[in-house]
Amino acid sequence: MFLNRLKATFSSLKVKIFLGFWIIAIITMSITQWVTEQYNENEKIIEITKADQLHLQLTAKKLVRNFSKEKLRPIDGVLIRSRNIPRGIWLKDPKTNRLHSNTAQLPFRIPRTIKELEFSHAVDITIPGYNLIGPQEVVIRDKTYHLFIGKIIQRKDIPQFLQQMPDGLRVFMVLVITGMLCWVLSWYLIRPLKKLTSATKLIGKGELATRLPEFENRFDEVGQLGQALNGMADKLEHSIAAQQRLLGDISHELRSPLTRMQLSLSMIEKVQHNNPTLDKYIVRVATETSRLDNMISQALQLSRLESQLQQMHNSTFNLSSLLESLIDDAQFVGNEKSISIKADIIENIKFFGDHQLLSSAIENILNNALRYSINDSQISVSLKLKNHKIRIIICDQGPGVDVKYIKDIFKPFFRTSEARDRISGGTGLGLAIASRAIHCHQGHIYAKLATTSNENPGLCVIMTLPQATDTPSS
Ligand SMILES: Nc1ncnc2c1ncn2[C@@H]1O[C@H](COP(=O)(O)OP(=O)(O)OP(=O)(O)O)[C@@H](O)[C@H]1O
Ligand SMILES: [Mg+2]
Repeated sequence: MFLNRLKATFSSLKVKIFLGFWIIAIITMSITQWVTEQYNENEKIIEITKADQLHLQLTAKKLVRNFSKEKLRPIDGVLIRSRNIPRGIWLKDPKTNRLHSNTAQLPFRIPRTIKELEFSHAVDITIPGYNLIGPQEVVIRDKTYHLFIGKIIQRKDIPQFLQQMPDGLRVFMVLVITGMLCWVLSWYLIRPLKKLTSATKLIGKGELATRLPEFENRFDEVGQLGQALNGMADKLEHSIAAQQRLLGDISHELRSPLTRMQLSLSMIEKVQHNNPTLDKYIVRVATETSRLDNMISQALQLSRLESQLQQMHNSTFNLSSLLESLIDDAQFVGNEKSISIKADIIENIKFFGDHQLLSSAIENILNNALRYSINDSQISVSLKLKNHKIRIIICDQGPGVDVKYIKDIFKPFFRTSEARDRISGGTGLGLAIASRAIHCHQGHIYAKLATTSNENPGLCVIMTLPQATDTPSS
């Protein structure tokens, strides 16, 4: 019990963030402390040993000799060229406080120490990582200089490579290490959130079977969020499935009484004679029942498509020919409204899919174009290949759809108020069915206005479908 609570506390994101940043802060502080300690330790000054005194005097002599040979060369140049003296030689001009040396790779405190400290006799100065002996008076080119000899002390508690590392590189190392730790921490925190985001997007797109099983065994807040998302997806999937089932069931159940009504109606038609008033009502009832029948068929088809119960009868067929024959049929209907159909179709495009389903989807869009077109106008139909995708575009010169509703026309039962007012009928299910049918073929469908004109801008419905591998490219 106690262990479980402890586990839950430590796996909480809040504690993780706190501990993570704390550890990083402690590491950063320790490293910074260590680096600054290197510079802040005080100098230790002790009496010089006899051996060092001798070493100084000997080096001074060698220098005097070297300078007597090289009369014209600058002081630093002679120092650097002198092979018989050790590296780490410093010559200070006591009057100007100027320093000459044969080395550059030394802690930055050395020049300051040499410049600031005034000694009447030679001493042994130790600063962290470095040891200095001097001053020893030496006369070069008639001028008195103070000679110092320095040497790096290898510290045993610090690895050699760190001691030899330039200061800039040490700071860089601290930055890299802490940076890497912070990156790992943020990656650890952000990765599950990214997964959650993409899962939420998938659910939003309608892929309701998306789940995050790896979050079920996580106890922190992110785990809880993942579990909540899984639960929400479960609920959503169930309720949408139930809704679709209900729509399917109702449509199915309505069919039988409707069929019986149609049957009775035909019986009445047979038995009644010479009553024009009754005739009129019978025709009316017949039209309404057939409209109802049509609506129920469409609702059933949509429900099957949405619940993926619709059996796909896939085969490879010639999409160009299908479109041409649909255009022929549409032209026949269009003649009544003096509508001409202009076709621009690439020949012989093959497609693998459900011929009947795709045919009814395209037919519905063509029917819409005919239904909503004004008289004496033109409808254009094109089939092209673009970026390895088949593009079918059907445009009319009708009133179009208000841009704010242009996405809604693919929703079931959506009809613009003008369409509702029409006597031409229509249930508002055609585009929803077409859209599902196109999605079942891994395609995409959308609509846009054909022109920017205020009066009759026309509507274009664009369908893209994946190109079959054996489709000839244009
Ligand atoms: N070419 C078009 N021009 C103008 N409005 C259109 C066009 N196509 C569709 N619409 C609008 O989109 C709505 C939905 O179209 P959809 O095809 O789904 O239904 P419908 O045509 O009304 O009925 P049916 O279910 O018989 O097809 C239409 O009612 C109409 O308001
Ligand atoms: Mg329609």
